[in-house]
Amino acid sequence: MLPANRLWLSEAALGMLQSLRYYCQETPRKTRICEAISNLDVGTKIKVQGWVRSVRPQKENLFLHVNDGSSLQSLQVVASSELNHRLLTFGSAVEISGSLVTSPSRKQDVELQADQIDVVGECNPIKEKHGLEYIRQFPHLRCKTNVFSSLLRIRSEATTAIQQYFKEKGFIQVHTPVLTSNDCEGAGELFQVEPAGQEKNQDEEGHQHFFSVPAYLTVSGQLHLEVTAGAFPGVYTFGPTFRAENSQSRRHLAEFYMVEAEISFTQSLEDLMKVMEDLFRSTTEHLLSQCPEDVALYHKHVITYTEAINILNSSSKKFAFKTDWGSDLQTEHEKYLVKHCGDVPLFVTDYPYALKPFYTRDNQDQPLHTAAAVDLLVPGVGEMCGGSLREERLDLLKTRLAQAGLDETYGWYLDLRRFGSVPHGGFGMGFERYLQCVLGVDNIKDVIPFPRYSHSCLL
Ligand code: 4AD
Ligand code: MG
Repeated sequence: MLPANRLWLSEAALGMLQSLRYYCQETPRKTRICEAISNLDVGTKIKVQGWVRSVRPQKENLFLHVNDGSSLQSLQVVASSELNHRLLTFGSAVEISGSLVTSPSRKQDVELQADQIDVVGECNPIKEKHGLEYIRQFPHLRCKTNVFSSLLRIRSEATTAIQQYFKEKGFIQVHTPVLTSNDCEGAGELFQVEPAGQEKNQDEEGHQHFFSVPAYLTVSGQLHLEVTAGAFPGVYTFGPTFRAENSQSRRHLAEFYMVEAEISFTQSLEDLMKVMEDLFRSTTEHLLSQCPEDVALYHKHVITYTEAINILNSSSKKFAFKTDWGSDLQTEHEKYLVKHCGDVPLFVTDYPYALKPFYTRDNQDQPLHTAAAVDLLVPGVGEMCGGSLREERLDLLKTRLAQAGLDETYGWYLDLRRFGSVPHGGFGMGFERYLQCVLGVDNIKDVIPFPRYSHSCLL
């Protein structure tokens, strides 16, 4: 038996559902263009809504192509030239009723014979074809182009595939906060957050911060995932992350989406690599089946950081950045390594201990020599995923935090190791870099609807 108040709630919810069903029946049936071109409704009267992609007036007939964002293909509309209207131009918004019939042309299976065309919104004259760089200046109009509407469908499908992957594997999704007081990566790339107009509020001036402590936009949800991984064996988060990297490069954004996973009861980088590879494979397979495109499938390679340095040093290529042991791998190095290994995705493991954040597990191969970290490098992009085993040994973690002067700040993190700690590890995958890789898009600003980077925050 449900308690009385729950019963009342469920009756109210049922009532709402019924009136919703009634409302849905009363609304005239509108057909999405992806449904219309799928050929199932031939012989029926339908109504479509969308935006005009081409207008070809002929003597007796008027030909239009209409797109509503539901597929790359547009619907051909044929109407008597009497239905032509001066506002019917490229880009105008229309509502069209008519009969869906088999098309006499081989270019498409079906077409709509229009009885009525209403221009809902007129469109100023615009040129139809522009390069990606040019249209980037108009973020409010970009989604009207074919290439961008494709991208938005792909982002949406890839998001579904990622959520589905983790659900099937039994991971719990955690909504990690956007506002945080920690700098997870310790790289000082934080955006600080204060109420507008009070940005100058600093402790030394005697003012209070809004949260009493400095607060930032998150650079990574990892530390919050580690907290939840103390009660669930597999957790993940998928949300926006922010980095004040003063970079105009083709693979850095100030705001990007990251998929992060944290796995408990694991002691090997292979376990993490398996999840990264599996996630990449299943998301890409989903994309290939839902948005059929000829994207090359997955191959892999694993080398250690030390082997990577040896490969770079024995190459005749002159690099701009240093390649001695202990230096971080730069984009030029990552791209070279991927090419060297046959232009396939490449895992690089066991980075120098000193290059990695405080939480990375010491391999103890030599004192403080390498740490159990792994990056996945992919063709055309370089680093796509970064992950590590986390230092679960309290004494080692304590020493490391103390050396960095962070032991007070991260007292709570040390506590995680005192309350049922288990060996664990995780990784983050840059969603935009993933899209760049599978779509072969050169510039990261062309795989996100509203790119944010230094000196640019349009709209
Ligand atoms: O390698 P990163 O910095 O790793 C972390 O943040 C870890 N805390 C993740 C974890 O273990 N849970 O970032 C992870 C990934 C990179 O491999 C890259 O794909 C992407 O995030 N990324 C960026 N993408 C676009 N613009 C930027 N400025 C990026 N910085 C990192
Ligand atoms: Mg990284």
